[in-house]
Amino acid sequence: MKTYNGLLSRYGRLLDLPKHTRPVTLLEGDTPLIPVPGLVRLMGGGFDLYVKYEGLNPTGSFKDRGMTAAVSEALGRDAKAVICASTGNTAASAAAYAARAGLRCIVLIPEGKVAAGKLAGAVAYGAEVIQIEGSFDDALTMVVKITNKHPICLVNSINPYRIEGQKTSAFEICDTLGTAPDWLCLPVGNAGNITAYWAGFRQYHQEQGSGLPHILGVQAAGSAPLVLGHPVEKPETVATAIRIGKPARGEQALAAADESNGRIIAVSDDDILNMQLLLSQVEGIWVEPASAAGLAGLQHEIAAGNFEAHGQRIVAICTGHGMKDPDIITRNLKPTVLPPTLEALEATILE
Ligand code: F0G
Repeated sequence: MKTYNGLLSRYGRLLDLPKHTRPVTLLEGDTPLIPVPGLVRLMGGGFDLYVKYEGLNPTGSFKDRGMTAAVSEALGRDAKAVICASTGNTAASAAAYAARAGLRCIVLIPEGKVAAGKLAGAVAYGAEVIQIEGSFDDALTMVVKITNKHPICLVNSINPYRIEGQKTSAFEICDTLGTAPDWLCLPVGNAGNITAYWAGFRQYHQEQGSGLPHILGVQAAGSAPLVLGHPVEKPETVATAIRIGKPARGEQALAAADESNGRIIAVSDDDILNMQLLLSQVEGIWVEPASAAGLAGLQHEIAAGNFEAHGQRIVAICTGHGMKDPDIITRNLKPTVLPPTLEALEATILE
């Protein structure tokens, strides 16, 4: 039987991890690259578009790629506790891997605005959840300070092993397509993921000549420090995963866009939510709002005439599952209410 043993087993030789690393895995990664021809038609046609559906990772987001590496390293050096600041997905992922490793896990979340599925995950996996009267950026400052002072392992993407683990998605894309795509579109929050993709593509290109994509990073307009060129004190967006005003790896994100001859742009919350529904209703792929930002950015650029899509092979990273944030869908739900009779049903659906 051919078994899949997780990312460190498949790609560990390509990752810069210390010898003491002791693998902790939930068989993360190996996510599908799904063609989305219906979306291509709606965007004008003439190119190939694939969704890398990262919501199919064990805890429902791409964070599991980085977390298998970071928690494995922490366990190997005998850490007893991990900590992170999080808009939700990192928290759930850290909590799950820490549970599996037998480590204590503490997560700091910003006031309000953490999607229900993420918070529930962190609690279910046994994390100690602490809400900060402040933003994600405030929480991140706090966890950096405490880990500089006490022997607790930081598992935010400032941790280099998170980046190592997250490079594996670039490897998978090249392995599936045979080469790198022409363009890669993805949401940008704290900017760890865009940094990891660019590092992964460059490494694969050096080792295997797989080519390099242009990178289109997409922020939400109310939380777009990398587009504005300065930090945002009070970031706002419906895409709460990327509600971040001071990205820790902002410089590297700008370098990735620049070196790849790509760019970082911002899209409105309306564009993000419209794309979320388009993707679910045209292609059957439900992602959380932040995860639709990459595609919303692509659509925006094509519509604005800023992007020559013709003949291109494009991959959009959909970072987290729609079930992470059910409220965004159901908040305006007004179900049709009927008496329990056939007549009422016929009158309603056959009218
Ligand atoms: N998409 C989703 C679903 C996310 O949860 C995040 C980040 C991003 C995109 C952006 O990735 O930060 O590497 O640029 N979520 C972090 C968290 C901040 O705490 O879960 P990034």
